[in-house]
Amino acid sequence: MRTHLLALPALVAAGVPYYSNSQFVDRSDGSRADAIKEAFSHAWDGYYEYAFPHDELHPISKGYGDSRNSWGASAVDALSTAIIMRNATIVNQIIDHIAKVDYSTTNSDVSLFETTIRYLAGMLSGYDLLKGPASGLVDESRVGVLLEQSKNLADILKFAFDTPSGVPHNVIDLTTHGNDGNEVNGLAVTGTLVLEWTRLSDLTGDDEYARLSQRAQEYLLHPSPPEYQPFPGLLGHTINITTGEFADGSVSWGGGHDSYYEYLIKMYVYDPERFSLYRDRWVTAAESTMKYLASHPSPRQDLVFVANYNEHQYSFVSGHLTCFDGGSFLLGGTVLGRQDFTDFGLQLVASCHETYNATVTGIGPESFSWDPSKVPAAQRDLYEQSGFFITGGSYILRPEVIESFYYAWRVTGNEEYREWVWNAFTSINKYCRTGSGFAGISDVNAANGGNQLDNQESFIFAEVLKYVYLTFAPEDEWQVQRGSGNTWVFNTEAHPLKVYTNQ
Ligand SMILES: *[C@@H]1O[C@H](CO)[C@@H](O)[C@H](O)[C@H]1NC(C)=O
Ligand SMILES: *[C@@H]1O[C@H](CO)[C@@H](O)[C@H](O)[C@H]1NC(C)=O
Ligand SMILES: *[C@@H]1O[C@H](CO)[C@@H](O)[C@H](O)[C@H]1NC(C)=O
Repeated sequence: MRTHLLALPALVAAGVPYYSNSQFVDRSDGSRADAIKEAFSHAWDGYYEYAFPHDELHPISKGYGDSRNSWGASAVDALSTAIIMRNATIVNQIIDHIAKVDYSTTNSDVSLFETTIRYLAGMLSGYDLLKGPASGLVDESRVGVLLEQSKNLADILKFAFDTPSGVPHNVIDLTTHGNDGNEVNGLAVTGTLVLEWTRLSDLTGDDEYARLSQRAQEYLLHPSPPEYQPFPGLLGHTINITTGEFADGSVSWGGGHDSYYEYLIKMYVYDPERFSLYRDRWVTAAESTMKYLASHPSPRQDLVFVANYNEHQYSFVSGHLTCFDGGSFLLGGTVLGRQDFTDFGLQLVASCHETYNATVTGIGPESFSWDPSKVPAAQRDLYEQSGFFITGGSYILRPEVIESFYYAWRVTGNEEYREWVWNAFTSINKYCRTGSGFAGISDVNAANGGNQLDNQESFIFAEVLKYVYLTFAPEDEWQVQRGSGNTWVFNTEAHPLKVYTNQ
């Protein structure tokens, strides 16, 4: 196993050609693809029977939750995957629902970020797919409502940007047009709006949405004060909503920071002309990450994780969310033709794979560390063999590790990455599946995964089952491409958006 891990980057570095896009060999695998569609239908059927039109299924008690404003989060999040799987039955059920949602009404606070990445992106992606390569799957006359509802939703949310700096409040109250009173907003939640809001402007011809989101992003692209950018391109965690200035210098690729970096390179993929500065900022951040944050666990020098940094101190903690980083480096590496980024991305992917492969369930933990001074006695063997120990053992159906495996498969064509995806899917089916859907598990390193957790997150539809399916699905234009030929770009919730073309 270890030799395999070491061999992967070496093969790529040696320039072993796997394939080029122009001669892509269709290596879809029908029987595996069918098994993944079956899992998607299983999750959908349980949700539809016991929870729809609420936000998510409670797959053990067969109840429901409304953690996303009760607008049917699982349904909207499932749309783009159901289209990609070409299941017209489910797509029609979801469009029927979306046409009826009243986004102006909810009985709880609204997260601008979560609403953008799940609802707004889910609808925009459905619109792009059904107007483009998936046209004909459902009656043409039913598609327009997806864009109308996207616009309705953004019009309801846009007061969030009405602040002295233009940096939005994240937690807002639709009834009073108030907010939670927070003086600062986070890096990720500020920097993960621009793709969706720009797409909405490009589709509607109304540039207000693009302007609002890009104005907020300006403070991230030109950060001040300098001390809160401790390494070039790597930024602090919070931004003052009054001034647009950074309020700390805490650096990480983990939750709270993550998708700011993700969107820099994805904006360049979306439109290289308008967003070349975003690319430059991603390159600067990526180079600093390799130089200052790359960290090798002492017993496993072959692995690399990205450390955090704050006030001259490193902390050697990471987690499932952070494992999107391999995919981001691979996307940047292939799009920009930078082999150093691709090689580093493959090392990150192999290291996150270790967190899956080393556990009893074959699923990786929510959080882990490789700080040699903090290894618990009970995990000494795990640390010595696998270079990490678990600090939070749950798994709540997160996608990031599988997402990065998918990028590794698409960029290299190396079958081993597909096996990693398949093994992860097999473990999820084994430990998370319930009679009505999929549950989280409390301890990835316990027999049977510990206890099942009674929640089916909407992102199992949008992300986990999409990336697993795409790994075994036929070639289609929305698949991630090697090189600079991508005509689709995935938002952070894995909803594919059509890249901008000036026509
Ligand atoms: C579409 O999904 C439904 C509901 O889960 C399922 O019963 C049906 O078999 C699926 N159809 C196809 C063609 O996969
Ligand atoms: C944000 O900036 C305002 C105006 O300079 C200042 O009064 C406030 O204390 C700052 N808040 C934080 C949390 O830094
Ligand atoms: C770990 O990886 C090896 C080789 O890919 C595989 O045979 C084994 O089943 C994996 N173990 C788990 C728990 O996934």
